[in-house]
Amino acid sequence: MLDESVLKQHGQEHFLEYTKVMSQSEKEQLESDINRLELDEVNRLYEDVYVNRKEIEIADDIKQVQFDIKDQFSEEQLKSYRSLGIKAIKDGKFAVLLMAGGQGTRLGHQGPKGTFSFNDKSLFERQAEQLRHLVNEIGTPIHWYIMTSDVNHKDTLAFFIENNYFEYDEQYIHFFKQDHIVSLTTDGRLILDVNKRIMQTPNGNGGVFKSLEKTKLLAEMKEHGVSFLFLNNIDNALVKVLDPEFVGYTIEQNSDVTTKSIQAFEDEKVGRLVSVDGKKRVLEYSELSADDVNKFENANIGIHVFKVDFLIESASKALPYHLAIKNLKQLDEDFSVVEKESLKFELFYFDIFQYANSFATLQVNRAKEFSPLKNKEGKDSIETAQKDLEINQLL
Ligand code: UD1
Repeated sequence: MLDESVLKQHGQEHFLEYTKVMSQSEKEQLESDINRLELDEVNRLYEDVYVNRKEIEIADDIKQVQFDIKDQFSEEQLKSYRSLGIKAIKDGKFAVLLMAGGQGTRLGHQGPKGTFSFNDKSLFERQAEQLRHLVNEIGTPIHWYIMTSDVNHKDTLAFFIENNYFEYDEQYIHFFKQDHIVSLTTDGRLILDVNKRIMQTPNGNGGVFKSLEKTKLLAEMKEHGVSFLFLNNIDNALVKVLDPEFVGYTIEQNSDVTTKSIQAFEDEKVGRLVSVDGKKRVLEYSELSADDVNKFENANIGIHVFKVDFLIESASKALPYHLAIKNLKQLDEDFSVVEKESLKFELFYFDIFQYANSFATLQVNRAKEFSPLKNKEGKDSIETAQKDLEINQLL
């Protein structure tokens, strides 16, 4: 039985109406879903992240992070970074993590984003192929961690199996799932999804660290002798996965976090890398006003290396939730399916930067290294990614 007074106390009494027209098994399911939630925490989340939300203020002490520029390195310097990088990878010091738990709603592609193909080659295959070549070149296996979420785990796994893991040694691919968190209506109520379950959505890519910890994968990396974790997004068509020059730069910098960046275009939808009181942050484009977004030009492209020891130390530390207001398909009171503006809560992986004691940034040439596939048409779209792949002779 649902406890009426507990529901009322937490502003969730709408479920009492729902249960009047539910079957016994649906009711039991709902009851167990609700009992698994900490309703106090749900209320707190709503208050903190939505009701009391604040605009980001750009105070005078916010500075752009310092960065090196790859194009200014000499051929000789790059060669030396490359051999340093190759040696470290050969020594088994590096593993790779692909964040692929997102829903990719803007692209409107059926299935996980990594299954999207250019010229019959999917984004997953393009990344697997780079790693496979590297392994063949150096003769040392590289552990590849792939984060999925409930919304795409099954399909992702099936795609890898169907494609024989793209000839990458299967025992070095480790899939793991990020966590989920409830979504809420704009008045703070839990939502029923189309399956009459409490709606939960992936908790944002910042869920990555706690999930790595929970699944014991961080400890396992350490056991394997891995000291650095290279992390990247699924949707950059030009990503150079574990590129040895950047690996060499990382080794030389020896920082808790080493980041690639680009020079942003005006109004570009990319996070900006800044420093506040010496602590590094990404100011996300979606949270910056139109005026503020162009104050900082050095931008995040979702390519970083973390020291594994730093992650082990920091994974359990708190990260803030960010708010996204999205149209979500759900059931209304009479069980018809509607799309309604609702609240999604997301952790951002780069909020872990605040715990880093050292941080290095290498700005790279966007024409060679960054072409995000976000939209069906227009900017950052299928067309622009296709063109960039062509220019780089990667099609
Ligand atoms: C992201 C960055 C932004 C950067 C831009 C570059 C974040 C929060 N923002 O923006 O600073 O400039 O990429 O392209 O990362 N993902 C998950 N689980 C989730 C949500 C996302 O694994 O719950 C993965 C996606 O599959 C993708 C990556 O995280 O690989 C980036 O997520 P996305 O939502 O596409 O972020 P953007 O808004 O594009």
